[in-house]
Amino acid sequence: MNSVISIADRTFWVGVNDYDTALFEALWPLPMGVSYNAYMIVDEKTALVDTVKGCYFSVYLDKVKNLLPEGRTVDYLIVNHMEPDHSGAIEALREAFPEIQIIGNSKTAEFLKDYYGLKDNIRVVSEGEIVSLGTHQLSFFPVPMVHWPETMVTLDKNTGTLFSSDAFGGFGALNGGIFDDEVDTAYYEDEVLRYFSNIVGRYSSMVQRAISKLKAQDFGIIAPSHGPVWRSNPSHIVDLYDRWSKQETESGAVIVYGSMYGNTQRMMESLARGLVEKGIEKVRIHNISTSHISFVIRDIWRFKGVVLGSCTYNTELFPPMKQVLSALDNRMIKDRILGVFGSYTWSGGALKELQEFAGKCNWMKVDPVIEAKGSPSEIDLEKCRELGRNLAEKLTK
Ligand code: FEO
Repeated sequence: MNSVISIADRTFWVGVNDYDTALFEALWPLPMGVSYNAYMIVDEKTALVDTVKGCYFSVYLDKVKNLLPEGRTVDYLIVNHMEPDHSGAIEALREAFPEIQIIGNSKTAEFLKDYYGLKDNIRVVSEGEIVSLGTHQLSFFPVPMVHWPETMVTLDKNTGTLFSSDAFGGFGALNGGIFDDEVDTAYYEDEVLRYFSNIVGRYSSMVQRAISKLKAQDFGIIAPSHGPVWRSNPSHIVDLYDRWSKQETESGAVIVYGSMYGNTQRMMESLARGLVEKGIEKVRIHNISTSHISFVIRDIWRFKGVVLGSCTYNTELFPPMKQVLSALDNRMIKDRILGVFGSYTWSGGALKELQEFAGKCNWMKVDPVIEAKGSPSEIDLEKCRELGRNLAEKLTK
């Protein structure tokens, strides 16, 4: 998909797909790839909205050059966001078009200096300020912490296109189509939520502020910096981000467990049975030794019920389960219903730490709490089933 694609009047997608990177931000797996969307507006002046990850510069540059009318140069680069998946080609772009003026806010200017040593030919814009390209009038709205403090969005009032940066974006390369009406949006939704919950979710209150601010603007196309361009049903992606940033949940349960020898796993299976016996169909199970934490966080973001079960390792919580607790704390996940269980052989430890977490997190708790010594007894397993049934009752109330 190397050709440029028109998204509105004289407005083009000049982004790239990344099917190669294993870990986004060196942390998050990309089984479906990711797109770095960038855009170009060709008017009396030409403007680029964002660049792409540095290693894809030549693909991006080819597209830009294809669109440039004979004898013209690129006049402006609008930097909505400085994270290097979007800013990584700025220096190379400046070498290709030395006269290009960079447009950003005061924080953008600070980060341009910090990351690339750039200080010259930067125009600092304030909220609502207009830059005219001729017919196209661009205005800028800061959306701090969605996802960095300098992040802003750019609105082209003439085409009603909102270049929304990370907001309303998600993982998943664009497999041939780029618009919501030409791709299977359901295919992308899990990856949009995984992106949202792991990367932006911590800043949900700022997402709410951004949505309030943007709803006052008139736009018909949302062109984010990752994932599909929403031209047919932009309110769908706004609604998803709105719901998720309010931490609205679905009725269902996520069981995250750590088990070295299968004992804690047997407890998990009894618990899951209890949930299903009481009518919960949406049960998601993660073995924390094999599920990447980003999928765990995604599912916990979606569902109301959470059960954490862990074996004991060296008198403490199983190490990968510690990472789960830390991630839940960091994402400020709230208002869930929590159950816990654990196991040990000669000394407890795991359940104690899970209970400490339960005491701190201010979520609703559900009983019983179960701790098995060695292999779980029939009584232990029945208690796990009871925990599942009790959780189901709370979820369906
Ligand atoms: Fe897609 Fe926060 O960068």
